[in-house]
Amino acid sequence: MENLEIPLSDEEFVAIKQRVYKIAGISLSDAKRTLVISRLTKVVRGLGLRSFSDYVDFLDRGADADQVQTFVNALTTNLTRFYREEHHFAHLVDYVGTLIENPPRRGAGGKPRLRIWSAGCSTGQEPYTIALALIDAYPQLKRWDFRILATDIDTNVLKTASAGIYKKTDLAGLSAQRMAFFENAGPDTVAIPRAIRELIAFKPLNLITEWPFKGPFDVIFCRNVVIYFDRPTQEKLFERMASVLSPSGFLYIGHSENLNSVNSRFDRVGKTIYRPKTAMGRSAA
Ligand SMILES: C[S@@+](CC[C@H](N)C(=O)[O-])C[C@H]1O[C@@H](n2cnc3c(N)ncnc32)[C@H](O)[C@@H]1O
Repeated sequence: MENLEIPLSDEEFVAIKQRVYKIAGISLSDAKRTLVISRLTKVVRGLGLRSFSDYVDFLDRGADADQVQTFVNALTTNLTRFYREEHHFAHLVDYVGTLIENPPRRGAGGKPRLRIWSAGCSTGQEPYTIALALIDAYPQLKRWDFRILATDIDTNVLKTASAGIYKKTDLAGLSAQRMAFFENAGPDTVAIPRAIRELIAFKPLNLITEWPFKGPFDVIFCRNVVIYFDRPTQEKLFERMASVLSPSGFLYIGHSENLNSVNSRFDRVGKTIYRPKTAMGRSAA
């Protein structure tokens, strides 16, 4: 009985969709109906409630911030992997090479400054790949004011990300050279080395709310996040991203995403690679 799924009526599904859209900007398609049932049944039962209508009432009237967070965490999709969409990391390494030759900004202690934002970082594979790829290519970055901000709305994935412990099977497909960066943590697990973890600040952040920073970031990764957003939400998000990205910086988006019809502040300069337009309407050289 306990494991039986709770039925979800059309009205209840619409009510859940409205709540997650309002809180997180996530637009659930009709195909996500079974996902809603499977992810939320346990949550609803855990609260001692009998129906999704009761749960929606609870969200509207009685839920505290943690319970609203549990609702959001249950409905995010967190698929990711190390070196996903590898061409972005090759492009990043080339770009940072140009910054190393000619650092555009100075940061803490007068050191050259490099800032990268992984927006929608999930369980951490994306920001760790950024750090690993860059430190591998340019060990001198350890002496820079180099920081990666990695944010996600889902507080559960951020715990995994901060711990930096992964299953050995998560490294499947990586070359021996890339695998060598990971430390053994147990018979089936590996750990991200401390020096790499220390480059990254993992923070909870809902992309559709106010951001507690102004940038500028040299690079923004926002990959496989806006597929869950509708067009107006995407438009606003990319408008805001343009204002925190350095004029000579780059934005990387996911393989099935496209900015062309959504935002005129960026030029496409490669496969899912964008650069802000200058005031003259062209991207910086
Ligand atoms: C499919 S994962 C992408 C992970 C990584 N960027 C990649 O491409 O491998 C999408 C992530 O976006 C996050 N997300 C969804 N809505 C969000 C929002 N409103 N604010 C911040 N993160 C959000 C989810 O929690 C999830 O971890």
